[in-house]
Amino acid sequence: MGEESTRAEADPLGGRGGRRSIGQMIVVGLIASAVGIAIGLLIDWFPTVGSKQAHKIDTFWDVLIICSVPVFVLVTTVVLFAARDFRMRPGQENLDGPPIHGNTKLEIVWTTIPAVMLVALCAYALITLSDIEKAPAAGNERQITATGQQFAWTFQYNEGGKKFSSTQLYVPINESVKFNVKTDDVLHDFWVPAWRMKIDAVPGITTHYRVTPDKLTGPAGYPVVCAELCGLGHAFMRSTAHVLSKAAYAAWVTKMTTAAAPAAPAGGGGQTAAVDGKTLFTKGETSTGATACGGCHKLADAGTVGGVGPDLTTAIKGKDAAFIKTSILDPNAEITPGFDKGIMPANYGQLLSPAEVDALVKYLQEVAAK
Ligand code: CUA
Repeated sequence: MGEESTRAEADPLGGRGGRRSIGQMIVVGLIASAVGIAIGLLIDWFPTVGSKQAHKIDTFWDVLIICSVPVFVLVTTVVLFAARDFRMRPGQENLDGPPIHGNTKLEIVWTTIPAVMLVALCAYALITLSDIEKAPAAGNERQITATGQQFAWTFQYNEGGKKFSSTQLYVPINESVKFNVKTDDVLHDFWVPAWRMKIDAVPGITTHYRVTPDKLTGPAGYPVVCAELCGLGHAFMRSTAHVLSKAAYAAWVTKMTTAAAPAAPAGGGGQTAAVDGKTLFTKGETSTGATACGGCHKLADAGTVGGVGPDLTTAIKGKDAAFIKTSILDPNAEITPGFDKGIMPANYGQLLSPAEVDALVKYLQEVAAK
């Protein structure tokens, strides 16, 4: 008995030893929090900041780091100190701890602080959300419809009454754009990481978000990503967003509206410039920037290795021009064994000019006949 009580007196919680431990714990916790916050703020978490919304969202992220790192560090420090001071020493196997009921003051403190933090962060999040969703004061805002379909994006424009569509996204700098997000089939998610904005494309409804791009893109543009698992080609459901100066955007709109006008009724394409089918196939440098065939299809002659759709090296062998044309314009008409319907976007008829379709058919038929 006497031996046990000596050990109980050596208990680190009792007396000055305990207070020293708490003091050490606070110092270690404060230093570790400061270091953790500094590291958290120094890490470059996100891609380029490309919109007015992105600045606010990144600031919100920094505030979350400043609030959450000390919570994590505090809990970890208490666990580590408790493991050090209250560990079982040899000979204490049968000892019971001191009969503590609880500590009402402590419980009030550790319930109140997180509750206040949560309410404050929720309020800040709500304010930020309503701020980034606010319509511009000036009124006449540009609207672009982003339509997802397995596995491509199409952007529909209405510029001064002229409607056209593009598979790459073009927007002018420093003007608010309201995106109407739709889907032709399953759930997709329209995400431009550089703008920090992201929303589901939900069958049957139109969702929205606003972006004010405030940074010009280089020729590479920003990635547009589908962020909702939508089928086999999900990983390839990407496009590019270009932020242009106002003058460059106006020039692009003029090009899109005048190029489309003669092509549709004449059916032969306005320009006489020769379209090279092989280039179209490998690089997709089409009038609307449609995704290259080679991104999804393997074809030995073109040197492409895409694996989403059938390997055209064998799939088109010996086929005639009519079959190839139908396969481009109406891909679900005849499905290569082993592949599902709907993998290939059915909108290439709209994305390619008739001259581009003819060039592709001509090229592929030459390859098929080899
Ligand atoms: Cu569309 Cu994933």
